[in-house]
Amino acid sequence: MSGAKRVPVRIKRQDVSYPVIIQPRASQSALSRAFSSLGLADGRRACVLVDSGFAGARPDVERALKSIFPHGLFLRVAGSEASKTLASASGILGKMVGAGFTRSDLVVAVGGGVIGDLGGFVASVYHRGIGVVHIPTTLLAMVDSSVGGKTAVNLPEGKNLVGTFHQPLAVLDFLDLIETLPEADYRSGLGEVYKYAVGFDARLFNYLGSNAARVLAREPAVLARLVRDCVAIKARIVSLDERETGASRAADRRLLNLGHTLGHGLEKAYRMPHGVAVAIGVTLAARFSARVKLCRQRCYDEIMELGERLGLDSERTARWRLPEILPYVKRDKKMAGGRLQFIGIKSIGRAVVRPTRLEELEVLKG
Ligand SMILES: NC(=O)c1ccc[n+]([C@@H]2O[C@H](COP(=O)([O-])OP(=O)(O)OC[C@H]3O[C@@H](n4cnc5c(N)ncnc54)[C@H](O)[C@@H]3O)[C@@H](O)[C@H]2O)c1
Repeated sequence: MSGAKRVPVRIKRQDVSYPVIIQPRASQSALSRAFSSLGLADGRRACVLVDSGFAGARPDVERALKSIFPHGLFLRVAGSEASKTLASASGILGKMVGAGFTRSDLVVAVGGGVIGDLGGFVASVYHRGIGVVHIPTTLLAMVDSSVGGKTAVNLPEGKNLVGTFHQPLAVLDFLDLIETLPEADYRSGLGEVYKYAVGFDARLFNYLGSNAARVLAREPAVLARLVRDCVAIKARIVSLDERETGASRAADRRLLNLGHTLGHGLEKAYRMPHGVAVAIGVTLAARFSARVKLCRQRCYDEIMELGERLGLDSERTARWRLPEILPYVKRDKKMAGGRLQFIGIKSIGRAVVRPTRLEELEVLKG
């Protein structure tokens, strides 16, 4: 495949491996070649779930998939949390049964994290599990949610409360799909990129700092680098710790929660988009780390400066109050032995698990 880059993802425990194929454009021929190279354009049928917002912006992608899967079941789904329910999963599963889908057929999820989580969930339970291919259309889905095999639907009681681990057959990242993404959703994805740079990759951190304007202009060469680096980091961590058990310091999936512990609180308390809350959460983790002397003040300053260059909200610019966030943090499932499994920052590129009593978070005040 011309111009394509492959990042292999291997899950040790299950002996599973799949490619993340990064390509510049989602042309008809690039899509056909990708599915042929995976051995999936062989007459099997696909249930293709397409984000309805994306379908309007890029109808050519759905057309191309219809020619690759002429007997496919094409369903448009709204890219909103309201679609991530057991009821919509059940509706899709019923249509697959009605259309006579078998164990050798597959699901193709074309959209952001919502469609990926829902499509992955449906694939994981249909006939006890069939293959899924992700075609992410948001930056967040490309750099994060499409890799790692977590699927989820929401319950009225809360987000992502039901889900499975189901690794995809492949992830196809076509960078031009990002062009039509609304600015707010792009910034939300950048929040996750920022997390990867701050917590895991000092070189990516410096690269983002030196190329901030090009990042904001969504330059294809820059996007290629961001997606490749973030996927490689996530692949390395999940391949050794698929189920977040904290297998080793070098590959502890809990570290990927950098910015998320307080970020989830912000998301819920102020109804912020996920990645925006994560970016602010990263700056709060940096503030905490500097105050408890886990990292130097200079490290905190550099993290704040990069966020500013990328136009991300931070603990300095956003409205947040600890008492409003704490109730949600307390309910978070990431507590062990009465302590929060807080992810702190030791230095740029080095996130660490720092067991923390809730009262210790008071150092964030003032
Ligand atoms: N499984 C995981 O590991 C994981 C990780 C992080 C987040 N998530 C989940 O991801 C979800 C958030 O995903 P998201 O941020 O990708 O947003 P999203 O899926 O909610 O999509 C955001 C918006 O962008 C639109 N859209 C998508 N692609 C487009 C395109 N190319 N052009 C124009 N419009 C487009 C959608 O219609 C929607 O309105 C949450 O439900 C979260 O729980 C899952």
